Amino acid sequence: MTTDVLIIGSGIAGLSTGIKLAMLRPDLKIDVLTKVNERESNTSYAQGGVAAVWDHGADNYEKHIADTLDAGAGLCEEHIVRIVVEEGPERVEEIIEWGTRFDLDQFQKYDLGREGGHSENRILHYKDLTGWEIQRALSAKAATLDNLVVHEHYFALDLLTQHHLGHIVTRLTANIECYGAYVLNKENWEITTILARNTVLAAGGNGQIYRSTTNPVIATGDGLAMAHRAKVHLENMEFVQFHPTALYNPGLEKQAFLVSEAVRGFGAILKRPDGTEFMHDYDPRGSLAPRDIVARAIDNEMKVTGAEYMCLDCTHLDREKFVAHFPTIYDKCKEKGIDPMKDLIPVTPACHYMCGGVQVDEFGRSSVNQLYACGECTSTGLHGANRLASNSLLEALVFGHRIAHSIAANIDNCTLEERIPQWERTGTTEPKEQVLITQSTKELKEVMSSYVGIVRSDKRLKRAKDRLNLLHDETEELYRNSLVSPQLCELRNLITVGYLVTKAASLRKESRGLHYTTDYPEKADFVQYSVL
Ligand code: FAD
Ligand code: SIN
Repeated sequence: MTTDVLIIGSGIAGLSTGIKLAMLRPDLKIDVLTKVNERESNTSYAQGGVAAVWDHGADNYEKHIADTLDAGAGLCEEHIVRIVVEEGPERVEEIIEWGTRFDLDQFQKYDLGREGGHSENRILHYKDLTGWEIQRALSAKAATLDNLVVHEHYFALDLLTQHHLGHIVTRLTANIECYGAYVLNKENWEITTILARNTVLAAGGNGQIYRSTTNPVIATGDGLAMAHRAKVHLENMEFVQFHPTALYNPGLEKQAFLVSEAVRGFGAILKRPDGTEFMHDYDPRGSLAPRDIVARAIDNEMKVTGAEYMCLDCTHLDREKFVAHFPTIYDKCKEKGIDPMKDLIPVTPACHYMCGGVQVDEFGRSSVNQLYACGECTSTGLHGANRLASNSLLEALVFGHRIAHSIAANIDNCTLEERIPQWERTGTTEPKEQVLITQSTKELKEVMSSYVGIVRSDKRLKRAKDRLNLLHDETEELYRNSLVSPQLCELRNLITVGYLVTKAASLRKESRGLHYTTDYPEKADFVQYSVL
């Protein structure tokens, strides 16, 4: 199959890029892949909302920029922060034009919420279902465009480069080019070569490398692992964000339920199970300190007190207003026998977001020619060492727009590489023991959660690397001899991303933002980006 632009991923990053490009260049054919269905993405689960300067009376760009830089602990790129903050409101207006709804207040103005690290109310939201609403609106808009097709149940296996023409490609090879991807059609198990003049990687996050995560099961880091295999530069992979308040669940579901930070923005207070407050012992901003600080504080309190969770106290809040703003959270708590207006809500940190990823410039261009990247799988320079709440959806919209313009202006100089061979299946058989895959996946999550979590040390990281090497060798052997399946590919990708996180963490000899190590507890006085 051939196309002009192949987009891998149909979350906010993939769809907003695709829609904008399809509108700018109706002459281009755009194919978007999604490994499950169009609705299943990290985007769909976003609760809090989109941060954007809206109320120019109280708020301004400089405040949003300062908050983002402060959360990023010295590692943000200021010119990128400025681009995202200043261009963001226009991009939000655009998705409103495309049909996205945001809640209004009693004066029919947008109801602006607050989250940790924000000095003003600037979060546009649709109840506590903002991501669901954005995904709905983008999917509906995409369906109106004749030159854009979304292919559900298409699993991208690998990016195509000169390596597939038999050349030796290393990270130091100049001018690596991307020609599209090998893709598994999950409905008929055929592997198709999709040749594209430009490819956009928008494959989202990798929360599933940990035992407890707010990310859905699709978040297996496929995009990051494919990029790594294609020798694309990745950076800042050690900065994995743990959300402080996932609903405590001793049974551990595959996806932890999030209790939005917007609940604290609404007035909820973090407390110990005995009802005493603790956040002011850690930061003057209390329950609304940036996420890295709150997650570490909760982790520490759990260790010191031996409790399995900390709590959110909403009992002083107005029931009617709470239910109107947070209907999903309210219903979920009730389903678990918790009445948020009477009981403390038990919460624990869970892996939530990858701040690092494919290194891109201000137009979303990666280190490989004809390959762009957008959304959670990227490192744009916006988040630095810790993402400010609700800046992720905004980043995807701003970069999606910029990528679409860049492709529209440059694609006429790009051609298809027709010499790529078909995927080679000879000598592989169906894996007979699925347990080898499921058990290794569990082991990987255990290793990452025990040794590469919120608090790290040289010894823990070394142990993780040793265990991951073993898992890697076993899985590669299985992969070489097996017919490819999504489960096996996801395991392989999870191990690769787990390894990249561990490796980047072991290279950083300081504590900064989301990376905290007991061996180097202080922040260094110089700034270092870890490029892998
Ligand atoms: P995703 O939305 O995850 O989309 C990834 C796409 O890639 C999917 O379509 C998937 O099928 C596809 N894909 C992956 N691998 C393959 C493959 N191998 N082949 C084919 N397709 C593939 N951010 C905010 O700014 N505000 C919030 O309020 C907020 N709340 C959040 C709440 C939760 C519970 C979670 C999990 C995240 C939240 N975030 C929030 C973060 C934000 O939602 C994500 O960072 C953002 O939506 C990522 O968008 P994306 O398009 O990059 O990736
Ligand atoms: C939340 O609603 O707490 C999540 C917001 C985010 O991840 O940006």
